[in-house]
Amino acid sequence: MKISVLTLFPEIFDGFLDAGLMGRARRTGLLDVELVNIRDFASDKHRTVDDTPYGGGCGMIMKPEPLSRAVRSTQKARGEAHRVFLTPQGSSLNVKKIVELAGRDHLLFICGRYEGVDERFRESFVDEEISLGDFVLSGGEVAAMAIIEGVGRLLPGVMGNKDSAAEESFSEPLLEYPQYTRPAVFEGHEVPGVLLNGNHAEIRKWRRMKAEERTKLRRPDIYSEFCERTKAEPADSVNSLKTGTKGIQKNLLTNDASRTYVALLHHPVLDRNGQVVTTALTNLDLHDIARAAKTFGLAGYFVVTPIQKQRELARRIVGHWVDGKGCLANSRRRKALDLVKVKADLGQLFDSVKEDHGVEPVLIGTTANPGHRPVVSGSELFNRPEVVKRPVVLLFGTGWGLTDEMIDRADLLMEPILGPGSYNHLSVRSAVSIYLGRLFSRKP
Ligand SMILES: C[S@@+](CC[C@H](N)C(=O)[O-])C[C@H]1O[C@@H](n2cnc3c(N)ncnc32)[C@H](O)[C@@H]1O
Repeated sequence: MKISVLTLFPEIFDGFLDAGLMGRARRTGLLDVELVNIRDFASDKHRTVDDTPYGGGCGMIMKPEPLSRAVRSTQKARGEAHRVFLTPQGSSLNVKKIVELAGRDHLLFICGRYEGVDERFRESFVDEEISLGDFVLSGGEVAAMAIIEGVGRLLPGVMGNKDSAAEESFSEPLLEYPQYTRPAVFEGHEVPGVLLNGNHAEIRKWRRMKAEERTKLRRPDIYSEFCERTKAEPADSVNSLKTGTKGIQKNLLTNDASRTYVALLHHPVLDRNGQVVTTALTNLDLHDIARAAKTFGLAGYFVVTPIQKQRELARRIVGHWVDGKGCLANSRRRKALDLVKVKADLGQLFDSVKEDHGVEPVLIGTTANPGHRPVVSGSELFNRPEVVKRPVVLLFGTGWGLTDEMIDRADLLMEPILGPGSYNHLSVRSAVSIYLGRLFSRKP
């Protein structure tokens, strides 16, 4: 990216442009910054760039001729630019503006001084006016530096770990969660235990909750935008603020989808010959069911397989999209796969749900052939006494479906999905989407 800065004091930028990230970005050619001294474009021997204001008044105004010459000469030398005048009268700088400016090829900043610049220059040589905030500085240089650094950090290759930008304040309309580093105890103050247990899903949930709490308390304006964007009910967070995680648990129990999980079982399931087998994990099942779970607002998606290698594979795939290269490439996919929890068996699954909700879940079986077993319809399910106020796990089998032993283990069995004819061989992904659609679709 090219940046040109028109200023009366280029020396102010020295340290700033040589040190830290900006210094390295310039040395590696990711950022090409040119400082242009407006005084070089004055035409008199005293190199005058300002004069008294017409109509009287205190202070001096920067003259339009040196400024306009400087703009023309810079664009001639370095190409067309988006010309930004820094002024307290401009639109306030924020993350949206920084991201937008980071998308441009050539930014040209005009730093005012004294009482400002001649209005005719602004009208003819400025594309946009930006303010650093509702206060007055002596010059535009500090504002230009703030934008150069804000934009520079977003350029590919400038930040050592491009993921750092993904979780910072304002990457979502949220402030960043509290951060801690060694020592674990500082003057009697301990690091929160959850950060020390290595359980990434728990850490991510805690950080999320803390980010929401902090944003709600410090920036209710941003928080309401966050609620708007995530369709979260502000009430949820009010409760979570008041009663921490307990509050969150209480809220989870009020919204059916957010206390429901999908579980995909790879053992024991049936093969085409009715034999009990263990099936292999598929990337499609991982992605598509995660997307369905996210679309319908579920609490999570359990991938259950007794094979360690398969669990590692599942975690690697999820890690790529949630923490790895994939997460910046596709934040939607990140949000879906963020729901995935990988477990070895139903026992581990139950423990995990119990940890989140304090109670064991109700296990709901699914099958195309219920035989004589009683089934419940989608509209009935959440009105059943055994389901009220408890987390729910919808159990799906890969291969040719759940074994009889598994179906009998379920507390309730969902009504099968039946087509008009006898052919009934839906993929598990389709079955999940149909059931979730039956249970949680909302009216458009
Ligand atoms: C002392 S200020 C002039 C302020 C001007 N008289 C006014 O009231 O709007 C001199 C220069 O500092 C810069 N400046 C001052 N405050 C700024 C802010 N909040 N954001 C961006 N630039 C600012 C502008 O370039 C401005 O032309």
